[in-house]
Amino acid sequence: MNVERPLSVLFVCLGNICRSPTAEAVFAARVADAGLSDRIHSDSAGTGDWHLGRPPDPRTRRAARARGYDLERLRARQVVPADFRDFDYILAMDNANLRDLQLLRPQWYDGRLDLFLRAAGNAAVAEVPDPYAGDAGHFEAVLDLIEGGVDGLLAVLRHRHSV
Ligand code: 4NP
Repeated sequence: MNVERPLSVLFVCLGNICRSPTAEAVFAARVADAGLSDRIHSDSAGTGDWHLGRPPDPRTRRAARARGYDLERLRARQVVPADFRDFDYILAMDNANLRDLQLLRPQWYDGRLDLFLRAAGNAAVAEVPDPYAGDAGHFEAVLDLIEGGVDGLLAVLRHRHSV
């Protein structure tokens, strides 16, 4: 019996209504497909507090649904200090999110705080751009980046942690 605690991954963006809930839903779907749901736990949060308790943006839900991801039950939350206790990986969608997280990071945190796409091994693109003021094409581009990033991230995690 494996009694290790699951590997944990927190995806973070600004509002927690577009990018990070999408990344978490896609990641959780891939983890489930790989039969690893009991080994890898994930969640998402925002650095900002404007949308607390709200479901993901309707444009995000629509774009995700069209690719088979269900974001309907998610509700936005803000990053809290306990996240640094609870998550082995805290992965930011863009550099502004990463800077905000670095200000919150306790000295004792020994997990990996990084850009999502860098942790995923994507050398070509570093950031998932904020689609909030964009059009449908921006939301599709977010999904494209996230789907590719999640595949890379899962491969990195499986290799590094032998899961
Ligand atoms: P997210 O997108 O950070 O991907 O959830 C945004 C959502 C809301 C806002 C900005 C970005 N906002 O300014 O309210």
